[in-house]
Amino acid sequence: MIGLVGSGRVGSTLAMLLVQRNIDDIVLVDIIQGLPQGEALDLSHMAAEIGVDRKIAGSNEYSSLKGADIIVVTAGLARKPGMTRLDLLSKNAGIISSISKEIAKYAPESKLIVVTNPMDAMVYVALKSTGFPKNRVFGMGGMLDVSRFKDFLSKSLGVSNSSIDALVIGEHGESMTPVPSYSSVNGIPLKGLLSGEQLNKAIDETRKVAAEVIRLKGATFYAPANGIARMVEAVHFDKMMLLPVSTYLEGEYGVSGICIGVPAIIGKDGVEKIIQLKLEGEESDSFNKGVATLKEAVASLQILA
Ligand code: NAI
Repeated sequence: MIGLVGSGRVGSTLAMLLVQRNIDDIVLVDIIQGLPQGEALDLSHMAAEIGVDRKIAGSNEYSSLKGADIIVVTAGLARKPGMTRLDLLSKNAGIISSISKEIAKYAPESKLIVVTNPMDAMVYVALKSTGFPKNRVFGMGGMLDVSRFKDFLSKSLGVSNSSIDALVIGEHGESMTPVPSYSSVNGIPLKGLLSGEQLNKAIDETRKVAAEVIRLKGATFYAPANGIARMVEAVHFDKMMLLPVSTYLEGEYGVSGICIGVPAIIGKDGVEKIIQLKLEGEESDSFNKGVATLKEAVASLQILA
């Protein structure tokens, strides 16, 4: 069973994708009375017509997570226009900490995928509050950033997005790190296909476009939900997929004590292996800027605690 804590825009869109892909039974949990129950009914009706025989339930009780193998947390406040992800830090830290304790109580063997922003810091809070081993608590952000980078690259190259392999690591925030040196068009390095100016534009747009979507429609949820669904599939089907995820580092990339986006192999135990890359120049500078931001975030969480 897959547990979804938070039945708002990202949570409910994710539930729809998981039903469409017929992955497993689902339970939606939210604090709003009626919301998860209503979502579950609506989704059950869709499932009935497309021939998906899964249990889909909605609840206001964390005890409904009993038996969940994978839990995705999208609960909390979302960014409002003009707000940075870090503005959300203290408010969402309290929410994630209390949800994590409930998850540890009712689904102590689960794998936990954290989405709530500021995501990297929330993964850290969930890791500490559940007490789970680090492989079982990780975050989605890089998958979304990759979706955006791929879209810009595809448009500026005039090439199908299915031919593009792109990587974005680092903080899921102002200093996210698109990595052109490890991105390609079916193996052909980007640097030979795009001018420096075109590449910088794609990187810049990838960093800024989240704010633009929020300005235009108030939130972003289709692409995030798709990124989460890919991670759920990787764990559920033990796919051993290489995906960018936010995970706790203990010396990798010369960093310890924070969660940040890096490429990792994702399988049935969650983060099976962190892949180390050699970063240089601007890529390294941007990654290190994210590290500094997240170290500050973690330090301020300790002051708040
Ligand atoms: P939303 O406001 O539509 O949904 C959030 C839901 O969480 C609400 O239904 C609310 O009632 C529920 N909630 C609040 N406290 C709760 C608790 N203690 N237990 C259970 N449910 C609780 O927000 P949306 O748009 O779905 O975004 C959710 C979060 O995901 C936000 O923090 C947003 O910034 C983040 N996000 C992260 C992305 C990423 O790439 N990591 C991408 C998009 C959104």
